[in-house]
Amino acid sequence: MPEGIGKTLESTSAVILAAGQGTRMKSALPKVLHAIAGRPLVHYPVRAALEAGCGEVVVVVGHGRERLEAYLSEAFGASAQGIPEAWKGRVKTAVQKEQRGTGDAARAGLEAVRSGAERVLVFYGDVPLLTAPDVASVASILDEDKEATVALATCTTNDPFGYGRVIRDDRGQVVEIREQKDLRTDAERGIKEWNPGIYAAGVAFLKEALASLKPNNAQGEYYLTDIVSFAAQRGLRVVGVPSNPAVMDGINDRAQLARGERAMMDRLLEKHRVAGVTVRDGARIEDGVVIEKDATIESFAVLRGRTRVGSGSVVDVGCVLTNADIGEGVSLKPYSIVTDSIVRARAQIGPFSHLRPESDIGEEAHVGNFVETKKTRLDRGAKANHLAYLGDGFVGEGANVGAGTIFCNYDGFQKQITRIGKNAFIGSDSQLVAPVTIGDGAYVGTGTTVTRDVPADALAIGRAKQENKEGYASRLRGRLAAQKAAAAAKK
Ligand code: UD1
Ligand code: CA
Repeated sequence: MPEGIGKTLESTSAVILAAGQGTRMKSALPKVLHAIAGRPLVHYPVRAALEAGCGEVVVVVGHGRERLEAYLSEAFGASAQGIPEAWKGRVKTAVQKEQRGTGDAARAGLEAVRSGAERVLVFYGDVPLLTAPDVASVASILDEDKEATVALATCTTNDPFGYGRVIRDDRGQVVEIREQKDLRTDAERGIKEWNPGIYAAGVAFLKEALASLKPNNAQGEYYLTDIVSFAAQRGLRVVGVPSNPAVMDGINDRAQLARGERAMMDRLLEKHRVAGVTVRDGARIEDGVVIEKDATIESFAVLRGRTRVGSGSVVDVGCVLTNADIGEGVSLKPYSIVTDSIVRARAQIGPFSHLRPESDIGEEAHVGNFVETKKTRLDRGAKANHLAYLGDGFVGEGANVGAGTIFCNYDGFQKQITRIGKNAFIGSDSQLVAPVTIGDGAYVGTGTTVTRDVPADALAIGRAKQENKEGYASRLRGRLAAQKAAAAAKK
């Protein structure tokens, strides 16, 4: 971001329009809450405004207002996680009661703008790929060109179908934005310059211009875009700021949502790759995930939420990480799932492990295939390599949990705790009926159902004694074969 943007925009308020229903999404969910790369559409323009250094951000809400407000307060409110302190409290909302068009929405937003604001940047909540420099460059025109009353981004592409077009006069001055539905002639429909929807103007001008809007158009709506002709008709200067069309796609339906997501995903993967992470094609890394250098993210791995991956770790094919804190040098083998959990340095997980919330896997610990953990801590070097359920427990340093072990943590009413001491050994196919404690260095014999605490260094064994009957197998086979032959003869 160019230096100094933050300072110059302190007296600029951003107004982001997000009150529309988004009919074209055909969804019960308000459009701007549809996600790309793990965050609602509206997140990105709000963040762009904050990154650009806008003194405040007013989000105009209406349709689905409660849900939108709840999201904004969670993501940008006083107790939001993972955002700079300076951003907290800068985002507020204004209500547009009836969705009567973008001009009406901007008017509602403008009313909420703080009194000290000199300028306003207005843009739309459904344009997620735009970045701070994209909006800042529109605002900064008003400083560079003292004659300018309105600055707006414009893009030029071959097929701008659906967007408002930029109409210029003989001298090349921008005089109007005309919506797709209001285009009258083929010449107008052939205009390749279009309006991505980022506007900057002084507060006083905007107030006057928005108050003057009339819904005289194909959609019977108050168009924000009419502030352009309002200015031009009064001989006020409107400056078009050539902008990058690749980041200006508005999201109106789910096909565009998918395209926007693809573009965002490319951007995110590129960012990690350039920062020294090997990311294979097909991996999905959502916005906000942190990956240290020399980690490898294989194809079809999915990393979401507040996930962090330490340097040198490998997240193999098909792993799904949600709010996972993965230390350095960890190996997550294919198809492992980690949710709201910690995996410490050099641990080995998977293939096919399932770490459910509040699992904490210690350094160099091993969790193998078809092992499920939940609210369980494994200390350094502990191992549970095959087929186990470890729920609500502690496994001490160096302890070994055999195949098929179950922590019987639930009595139908409450969850109970299982504790396994340091270097203890739990034989395969044992059930540890919680609450229960296995002391340090103790042994639990294979196939034991442990219902009482096992002291340190003891052996617990609880299974029926085995008996061998010599020669019994062939006598048994003879008897069974005779029975089968007799049954066949009867038919
Ligand atoms: C708008 C522009 C168009 C531009 C395009 C860029 C107008 C009239 N047209 O068209 O020139 O090319 O964006 O993507 O501005 N909204 C409200 N209240 C309303 C109506 C809409 O808050 O009453 C919000 C929506 O939630 C949305 C944004 O404004 O986030 C844009 O509205 P939308 O209906 O998508 O406008 P477009 O038809 O895309
Ligand atoms: Ca739109």
